[in-house]
Amino acid sequence: MKNILVTGGAGFIGSAFIRHMVATYPDYNIICYDKLTYAGNIDNLLPVSDEPNYRFERGDIADRAAVHTALQRHNIDTIVNFAAESHVDRSILSPDAFIHTDVVGAYILLDEGRKHGIGRFCQVSTDEVYGDIDEGLSVEGDRFLPNSPYAASKAGGELMLRAYQVTYGMDTVITRGSNTYGPYQYPEKLIPFFTTEALDDRPLPLYGDGLQIRDWLYVDDHARGVDCILHRGKTGEAYNLAGENQRHNIEVTRQILEQLGKPPTLIRHVPDREGHDRRYAMTAAKARALGWQRAYNFERGLAETVRWYVENDWWWRKIKTGEYLAYYQSQYSDRLAAATAAP
Ligand code: NAD
Ligand code: TYD
Repeated sequence: MKNILVTGGAGFIGSAFIRHMVATYPDYNIICYDKLTYAGNIDNLLPVSDEPNYRFERGDIADRAAVHTALQRHNIDTIVNFAAESHVDRSILSPDAFIHTDVVGAYILLDEGRKHGIGRFCQVSTDEVYGDIDEGLSVEGDRFLPNSPYAASKAGGELMLRAYQVTYGMDTVITRGSNTYGPYQYPEKLIPFFTTEALDDRPLPLYGDGLQIRDWLYVDDHARGVDCILHRGKTGEAYNLAGENQRHNIEVTRQILEQLGKPPTLIRHVPDREGHDRRYAMTAAKARALGWQRAYNFERGLAETVRWYVENDWWWRKIKTGEYLAYYQSQYSDRLAAATAAP
């Protein structure tokens, strides 16, 4: 392993992974390949932009010719694929881009990677492929029951990896992370969205009763988990990267408000997300057996995250304009009009 193509590296988790890899492995060349969609942000990579073992190349993972050129130009031997459309609500409004990137893009990367003769291919996937689970913990052998277009597109990408491993003997590994939070997360996802809205005393649209459960993983722990599986995972295997920190959405929302010193009256119960999964929860035992250990509990991770958004409004204020406002309008204006105040 020497020349690693990190696709989607200008996004939230991909950029944390690049910052970690560039600092940890000075002998590796880390090449970020990213289309820079609305979610891609070159500011996320400012901390490494002058490092000698880091490069950036703009491109689409579903563009075969561009992928081919990037693999050749940088003599790539390893691919870590973070590139995806990643927001469930957007996948409900408009699934097309999800199929393009998460299914077709994953396939093109695999296919060009195979022809180029790469070694390891690591696919960054999600607990959402397991779907909603009432009780217990998802384990890696569980069947896929994805419920949103996003979850189904990620499951489709994973299945292409499986086919390329079984059929062509490609060296593939898969990570399935749980809900991730931390600095540099696009402010459409629950924690950065509610933190930045509350800072401006705006209403927080909590879907349904707010009693849905997510399992929260701090972004640096996720990045180190991908590093661990990339180096130590067994070919053809998938590994859960679970936060093992289950929380109700309402509880997370109240903690954010408390930390900001804002009132719970900002909470609005709005009509639920369509097909909303009630609960995700996984065990991380298999990844732990390879030596992965989380450093953050939820209280510390949330405190550091909220503080980061307070201190870095230069980063998120310029995002919350243009396309962001159009999306906000289509996702929330009717919902907020139908809202009920916090009980
Ligand atoms: P993100 O939306 O912040 O970033 C996605 C990145 O991919 C952006 O930089 C974007 O420009 C890039 N991209 C999108 N389409 C592309 C294309 N066709 N070609 C090249 N680049 C493209 O996402 P994230 O939250 O950092 O998630 C990264 C990965 O981790 C995704 O695969 C996601 O499914 C997975 N994941 C996310 C979470 C989470 O809670 N955020 C949890 C588990 C797994
Ligand atoms: P999100 O951050 O979109 O992640 P995911 O859908 O991948 O789990 O949402 C986390 C939880 O928060 C999910 O149960 C939906 C809920 N949620 C709201 O209640 N209101 C919102 O405005 C958003 C964005 C999410």
